Amino acid sequence: MTIKNICCIGAGYVGGPTMSVIAQKCPNIKVTVVDINEDRIAAWNHKDLSRLPVYEPGLDKVVEEARGRNLFFSTEVDKAINDADMIFISVNTPTKTYGKGKGMAADLKYIELCARQIARVAKQDKIVVEKSTLPVRTASAIKSILENTGNGVQFQILSNPEFLAEGTAVQDLLHPDRVLIGGDTTQEGQKAIQALVDIYANWIPNERILTTNVWSSELSKLTANAFLAQRVSSINAMSVICENTGADINEVSKAIGMDSRIGPKFLKASVGFGGSCFQKDILNLVYIAKTYGLDEVADYWEQVVLMNDYQKNRFSDNIVSTLYNTVSGKKITFFGWAFKKDTNDTRESAAIKVADNLLSEKANLSVYDPKVTEERIYADLDYLNSRSEEENRKLLKVQNNPYNAIKNSHAIAILTEWDEFKTYDWQKIYDNMHKPAFIFDGRGILDTKALSKIGFICYKIGSATTV
Ligand code: NAD
Ligand code: UDX
Repeated sequence: MTIKNICCIGAGYVGGPTMSVIAQKCPNIKVTVVDINEDRIAAWNHKDLSRLPVYEPGLDKVVEEARGRNLFFSTEVDKAINDADMIFISVNTPTKTYGKGKGMAADLKYIELCARQIARVAKQDKIVVEKSTLPVRTASAIKSILENTGNGVQFQILSNPEFLAEGTAVQDLLHPDRVLIGGDTTQEGQKAIQALVDIYANWIPNERILTTNVWSSELSKLTANAFLAQRVSSINAMSVICENTGADINEVSKAIGMDSRIGPKFLKASVGFGGSCFQKDILNLVYIAKTYGLDEVADYWEQVVLMNDYQKNRFSDNIVSTLYNTVSGKKITFFGWAFKKDTNDTRESAAIKVADNLLSEKANLSVYDPKVTEERIYADLDYLNSRSEEENRKLLKVQNNPYNAIKNSHAIAILTEWDEFKTYDWQKIYDNMHKPAFIFDGRGILDTKALSKIGFICYKIGSATTV
């Protein structure tokens, strides 16, 4: 079976970049990415490539090459579904905010709506690919919706979770550690798997394309994110021990990372992990474990999230206690709001929680992030409902220049590890701040020895405070 026409439902951080790379690498396949969000589709079609809705290094070049050739962005969902041989579902699967499983289970309403729409519209047989991250056994629910239309159309459901990380999405898509495809063990299932393998084989070596049954594929995605987040929480748990004992977290990371069984990656202590995936996917795993009555398993994984909450809270607590137990009326500048560098995504960013805590202490915040918009920053805060929108705007100001942002600040907090922060004129910054001038490096990226020489009092996550 050769695929000629792909549709992807969901033009977000995953659907957009993933389909752009497929279109770039498979010029003979027509790829249409659809979304109900008209603004998002308009942004994907924007002539000015700096206005794409997702900022990812290198993405503009990929889109430039394929868009209009065999890559299309559209709001005509029904048409794209009907025309396609293969449909990727890449819609959001946030944590449920209501009803049973509130605050833990994945909200699958968008997935179900897609399945129902496909069932209603499809006139010929199709392969439906789960690209979204889903609880194990979701494929059976999708199958049941698709198979009960009575119109004789046959569907194969594949699970093909996405492992890209934001900020490196294009490189991750071009050179993935592996591509995972789960499908039915029947002959039709195997044919469908092969059709998807053939697409990826256009640029990915065969040995990196792994095929499994559907359930293993669905569960592997949750497992991978749980393991990665667990590493961050583990190193963050050690960072507070370092601060109390005089050990240095970077030295500890290096020492343990040289053990080939542990490995050096994902051992960077931080103010806490963010991003749309880790917390949501672990909570989903916790919920699944609870559903099967596996309370010990649920508690084990939940601790990764609790540790992360602790890390964010202790960062803001430390700012308050270091600034002589009050930040009321003091100006604190945030460098960074995104959940990591090289992305404009702020979902679950540690900066949001730290800001909220400090605003509750009546601090005045000044925020500079090279890629995040003012509108986004206020929306993130307003969403918490901790105080009125007016108060958020009164207490927090967004700046588009770092040197303006720090004027008359009492302290600077590094919330995102943007490279440009390392290149600033820190003497000039010091000169324009209140004294004593404090720096709280939540990402461990600054040379605190050099900063101390200038006169800053420096706190670096996982190290003793230097004066
Ligand atoms: P997103 O919110 O950026 O994008 C989802 C898009 O789907 C939105 O634009 C929304 O308007 C659209 N949508 C929702 N329902 C729709 C419908 N019925 N018809 C058409 N469009 C619809 O989400 P995302 O970050 O791209 O994540 C998508 C999935 O991929 C999630 O399950 C997530 O867990 C998973 N994932 C995300 C990442 C990541 O780094 N963001 C990485 C791997 C996997
Ligand atoms: C993650 C997974 O890495 C990816 O495979 C999956 O597809 C989606 O979820 P993402 O959330 O985009 O990707 O970024 P990631 O690089 O994993 O970082 C997540 C968070 O952990 C960020 O806030 C990051 O700053 C933090 N982190 C990561 C650390 O604090 N320390 C580390 O050593 C690594």
